[in-house]
Amino acid sequence: MCGIVGYIGEHNVEDALINGLKRLEYRGYDSAGMSLLINDKIETVKKIGKTQNLHDAVTKKYSGGKGGVCTTGIAHTRWATHGMPTEENAHPHLDMNGNFALVHNGIIENYKNLKDKLVSHGYTFKSGTDTEVIVNLIDYLYEKDFFKAVAAALKELHGTFGIAVISKRHPGNIVVARRGSPIVVGLGTNEMLVGSDVSALVAYTRRVIYLNDDDIAMVKKDDVQIYNIDEVPVTRETALVDWDPGEIEKSGYKHFMLKEIEEQPDSVRNSIRGRIDFKTGTAILQGLNITPKEVSGTTDITITACGTSYIAGLVGEYYFEDLADIPTEVAQAAEFRYRNPILKPNSLVVAISQSGETADTLAAVREAAGKGASVVSLCNVVGSTIAREAGRGVYLHAGPEISVASTKAFTCQVAVLLMMALKFGRINRLSIDAGNLIADEIESIPEMISKLLKTKSEIEKIAEKYAAAEDFFYIGRGYMYPAALEGALKLKEISYIHAEGYHAAELKHGPIALLDEKVPVVALANDIPGKDKVIGNIQECRARKSPVIAVATEGDEEIKEYVEDIIRVPKTSKYIAPILTVIALQLFAYYIADKRGRDIDKPRNLAKSVTVE
Ligand code: M6R
Repeated sequence: MCGIVGYIGEHNVEDALINGLKRLEYRGYDSAGMSLLINDKIETVKKIGKTQNLHDAVTKKYSGGKGGVCTTGIAHTRWATHGMPTEENAHPHLDMNGNFALVHNGIIENYKNLKDKLVSHGYTFKSGTDTEVIVNLIDYLYEKDFFKAVAAALKELHGTFGIAVISKRHPGNIVVARRGSPIVVGLGTNEMLVGSDVSALVAYTRRVIYLNDDDIAMVKKDDVQIYNIDEVPVTRETALVDWDPGEIEKSGYKHFMLKEIEEQPDSVRNSIRGRIDFKTGTAILQGLNITPKEVSGTTDITITACGTSYIAGLVGEYYFEDLADIPTEVAQAAEFRYRNPILKPNSLVVAISQSGETADTLAAVREAAGKGASVVSLCNVVGSTIAREAGRGVYLHAGPEISVASTKAFTCQVAVLLMMALKFGRINRLSIDAGNLIADEIESIPEMISKLLKTKSEIEKIAEKYAAAEDFFYIGRGYMYPAALEGALKLKEISYIHAEGYHAAELKHGPIALLDEKVPVVALANDIPGKDKVIGNIQECRARKSPVIAVATEGDEEIKEYVEDIIRVPKTSKYIAPILTVIALQLFAYYIADKRGRDIDKPRNLAKSVTVE
């Protein structure tokens, strides 16, 4: 969603800000802006559309120099929530008197009451945003101490925020704070950066401090002091980001999505590296920090997540029940706390999130912990809020995922869930030999993915044939049911084609009414248990004239007589088949979206990290 970057130091400020904003573009946005402190005055430039528009405007404005010293600035990419995407609504926002400039991620729930109060004190507003209320409130509460004014204002806010504020009366300072929306401080030498995401900083420094909720930091070019909301100093650890800035470059690929699809042999390899132990036929997942006694005493598992991570959880449900004998359900994180989940003393809650910042998943983690359940997380972003709040879990090590459409995070999530189920299974029911069979399969995943990726041009040809269709169904059973959901989700989010993932047997209970020759059906007919039944379902579709594209196992000749086109995947067991099938469907969606000329990495209306409810 929105992105924040701030810079204070001796390098060119606007370059650092633009560079940071460009690295945050993947989060999704519709306008961008920056404020610079020049000669103790705040100068602000805002533009709707791409950050390049802002870049061009800033370059033009300062082509003859800035006319003074500038060491401090803040910038923002906005994804509209309160108010349309216009320059007035774009951040930074200034208070009525022009003393402070502020950028904000999140939503202020009581902004109307605060606005009424400020209006009664003579304040006027230019935008329709909740953010402008915060900066005016800071100005209203200001009594010579910048930090205290921000702290006092934050005490009055209800809702979520990550903010960065500068003041013309206090050049050389940026105040940042968070509640429910991430803020990270990057520690340089004679320079400091702040951001909503480490990608904004990683070109400058790898040493970072993640703020906790209700932390407020006073950042100077050579010092960072952190306090809690009651203004008591607190200490936060410095972490080292293990990403290479090169990992967040396109490296010659047309889109990040294609790059990330092709990275999957390596990302899964990194995810499983050092985590399989053939001596004991199990997985070693240190971060879970869970004893065999705790596993054997686990009565049930609830997996909670959103979007693609939720779908990975659906595959995990099969793993935990098949391999570890533990009743498992998957709960949409957005519903988790509202349906008052039944959690027993020995229930385990597994929260899955690529970003580790998704608001609904974070709320589910808090609800589960509040009800006394054990919580573990599966996150990709190291140091993210969900990972920190869960306290224990497994990092995916997929590397930075930039494309809004999640690809490599999904396959790593499924690989980690399989390792977890193997570990739990070995404690509960699997013999060492049975464990080693699964371990062998896990080890073979990267090679199988490489094999599949070699057939991408064949998938592209099939995609070209169907690129003009306006509706698709994806059907599957058992382990392939979640794969059908994920295939449909990928297609709709990047191509804007209506696509529905359905259980193959459910089709005839209603949606079959929609089938005709204009509605292709992608049928997941892998050679694993359930295939015969899927063939029956394919015939039901053909009888309604729908063209059927099968995903089928290499060497399966029988399938040819039932379908128009076949996407082949290497032969594997049912445990690995969802991973390979989803990768084939990622490519299918990618090529269709590319043929239709879509903005694949930044699809309309979507954000990479959804930090609002
Ligand atoms: O960062 P998270 O895994 O928590 O994100 C959850 C969803 O927002 C995310 O998977 C979304 O559905 C993707 N755009 C799907 O490609």
